[in-house]
Amino acid sequence: MADIFEKAEQVLAEIAAQTPANAAELESFRIQYLGTKGLIKSLMEEMRNVPNERKRDYGQLMNRLKQEAEAKHDALKEVFESQSQGAAAQAIDLTAPGEPFPLGSRHPVAVTMNRIVEIFTRMGFSVVDGPEIEDDWHNFTAMNTPEDHPARDMQDTFYVVDAPGMLLRTHTSPVQARVMENRQPPIRIIAPGRVYRNETISTRSHAQFHQVEGLYVDEGVSFADLKQTLLYFAQEMFGATKIRLRPSFFPFTEPSAEMDIWLGTDTEKNARLTKGTGWLEILGCGMVDPQVLENCGIDSKKYSGFAFGMGIERQALRLYEIGDIRLLFENDVRFLRQFAAAM
Ligand code: PHE
Repeated sequence: MADIFEKAEQVLAEIAAQTPANAAELESFRIQYLGTKGLIKSLMEEMRNVPNERKRDYGQLMNRLKQEAEAKHDALKEVFESQSQGAAAQAIDLTAPGEPFPLGSRHPVAVTMNRIVEIFTRMGFSVVDGPEIEDDWHNFTAMNTPEDHPARDMQDTFYVVDAPGMLLRTHTSPVQARVMENRQPPIRIIAPGRVYRNETISTRSHAQFHQVEGLYVDEGVSFADLKQTLLYFAQEMFGATKIRLRPSFFPFTEPSAEMDIWLGTDTEKNARLTKGTGWLEILGCGMVDPQVLENCGIDSKKYSGFAFGMGIERQALRLYEIGDIRLLFENDVRFLRQFAAAM
């Protein structure tokens, strides 16, 4: 009789040692110990062979076995059930309607820049790029603005402390120098990009804004070419019928001019934009100074050229009738969304 007690004690220890790790293992555990053909049931059946004086002890042992197995089973069952409910809650509901993908839009500055670039590429200009962290030579000296030239004061910028002579470019004009240093005419390029200025000095601009530069160098390029090219641009870009070239000064062009387009004063908006004159300033331009050609290794006796540069932000404001330039930098989606249809 001793061994049936021993066997039961063994099974009790076994149950305590079992660790079903998931619902399937728990079910095997249940069948093995608690099932109708399980171990506990067969141990119970041994009761009839137990002498009467020990039946009570054996019965108590059977109860412990059953309780132990049931308690373990019930506790684990609860754990596995709540786990699978959690997983079901996280599972993807394939019948749910999809999340809409909002269509992005280009920034109005990018749209305006693309329009300018597109007009000039149609005239045979190709797009080139230059570094935003520029050296002093390309930004100033090659462009005929040596150190101590008063024109530098108007284009104060941010200097790289650890790299003397390196600065954030103040205009896209250094791209002119970079292109001319690297190839001979004919040159017909357009260079859009970001530029920087110390805004406490250049009150008209932000610390960071955008420009598009143009350069045309070949044999026999004249002021008439400049004028016709820019008139065509003004017509295509703004539908302007007339341009006006006012004498101006840039160190790297001679002669230099500011180009205005004719908007007229017939609408209140045009009167306001042009401050009652009908004319709106668009860009700076001029014939490339022979000294700049020579600085960049181009024979100024053989070649001549014209260049122009314009800010993008102000044109974007005009094109889209945006009242406040700060809207262009705040990146408020409610504002930007309105340009979703623009290219
Ligand atoms: N770089 C000048 C500026 O930033 C614009 C310009 C470009 C003028 C090319 C003439 C020729 O104001």
